[in-house]
Amino acid sequence: MTPFKTSRLFDCTYSDPNPIIIHCGGTSSGKTYSILQVLLIRAITEPERVITVVGQDIPNLKKGSYRDIQHIIADSPYCQAHLVTHNKSDRLFEFRSGSLIEFVSFEDFQDAKNGKRDYLFCNELNGIEYPIFAELQQRTKIQTFADFNPTAEFWAHEKLKMRPDVSWYTSNFRHNPFIDPKTLNDIKGYEPTPENIARGTADEWRWKVYGLGELGRLEGVIFERWDFGAWPAEHQWHGYGLDFGFTNDPTGLVEVCVSGGELYIRELIHEHAMTNGDISTRMAQLAIDRRAEVVCDSAEPKSIEELYRLGWNVHPAIKGADSIQHGIDTLKRYKLNVCGNSPNLARELRAYRWKVDRNGKALNVPIDTDNHLIDAIRYIVTYKLKPKIIASQGGALV
Ligand SMILES: Nc1ncnc2c1ncn2[C@@H]1O[C@H](COP(=O)(O)OP(=O)(O)OP(=O)(O)O)[C@@H](O)[C@H]1O
Ligand SMILES: [Mg+2]
Repeated sequence: MTPFKTSRLFDCTYSDPNPIIIHCGGTSSGKTYSILQVLLIRAITEPERVITVVGQDIPNLKKGSYRDIQHIIADSPYCQAHLVTHNKSDRLFEFRSGSLIEFVSFEDFQDAKNGKRDYLFCNELNGIEYPIFAELQQRTKIQTFADFNPTAEFWAHEKLKMRPDVSWYTSNFRHNPFIDPKTLNDIKGYEPTPENIARGTADEWRWKVYGLGELGRLEGVIFERWDFGAWPAEHQWHGYGLDFGFTNDPTGLVEVCVSGGELYIRELIHEHAMTNGDISTRMAQLAIDRRAEVVCDSAEPKSIEELYRLGWNVHPAIKGADSIQHGIDTLKRYKLNVCGNSPNLARELRAYRWKVDRNGKALNVPIDTDNHLIDAIRYIVTYKLKPKIIASQGGALV
């Protein structure tokens, strides 16, 4: 008997003695819940354990595993009876056993060298860079858990999947008996059935990755040539791209530079509900030079004017019949280097794909979702390169 309602994913996670346990799977299969339940039992029944839950950044933790653990505890009198304190500012739970569970993120692998732990949980592993994982794993005494949605192949497939000390489980929504009807309906809507195609909800790639929990094919991915890199000491030019959002979409701001024929990009803002005043304040906090060019989504002339009046060197992005296609083609000529702490950018690049026709053939139209930072990159890069494109009539750019 366990103190919670549990699923089969919990059973295999709880009883598996391997030092590394990876859950790859579709959305809402119960991966995060099951791992957290196992960690709670360990924290409550074992003395003086340190348990670290790591996410790619704090906002992702807050809407993911940190929120989930609070729901699990709220639903469990057993957990409540053993919990001594929940320190919200440190995102730390302390138990009667003397064990604690902390929720943290790390800037880089140097940062990840701080601290040791008994259990580690890397939530959404594909948002965590390998050097960070390696440092954390090395400082974990008993067991490491991880979960992710298989949007594309990443370092874990190469470095972890085949190891004998790694258990690799694949799951999907069918493994979760507690899934709510709306989520179930949304997931089933992706399946390319005739009804879903007629309703416009079918999406073969989403069905594969988020529905079935199978690895997303690389063929449809738009940007294959990208990697993590360090911001170069010298560059030919640099500037900023800004995509406006508010309620449904986040505002995205990137800094981009060209050095040695490669593009270097860092994510500066990826946040909802920002007014133009908020954007201006944040840009000032980021110490952005007011003379630097900031190229913005031209669909919002009023916002551009407001930022201009607030003292920024803002310009509308170049729009035209083929501007999206052309912008993507331009970016694809470069190797892209993702610098600094840019987790949302890395996620967008991994998932950005072409629409496909009913035979699976890629159309030259990107799927217009979760691409705010990519759009912002497109704005600044096409703006900066325009004169040269005209000069060379579409030939070499930099
Ligand atoms: N043991 C459980 N008891 C009660 N509810 C559960 C349990 N397991 C899962 N659920 C419900 O199912 C939802 C999805 O589970 P969970 O968040 O663990 O999925 P996931 O596989 O981590 O999904 P994603 O890949 O989207 O992060 C939870 O938000 C919760 O509502
Ligand atoms: Mg999860």
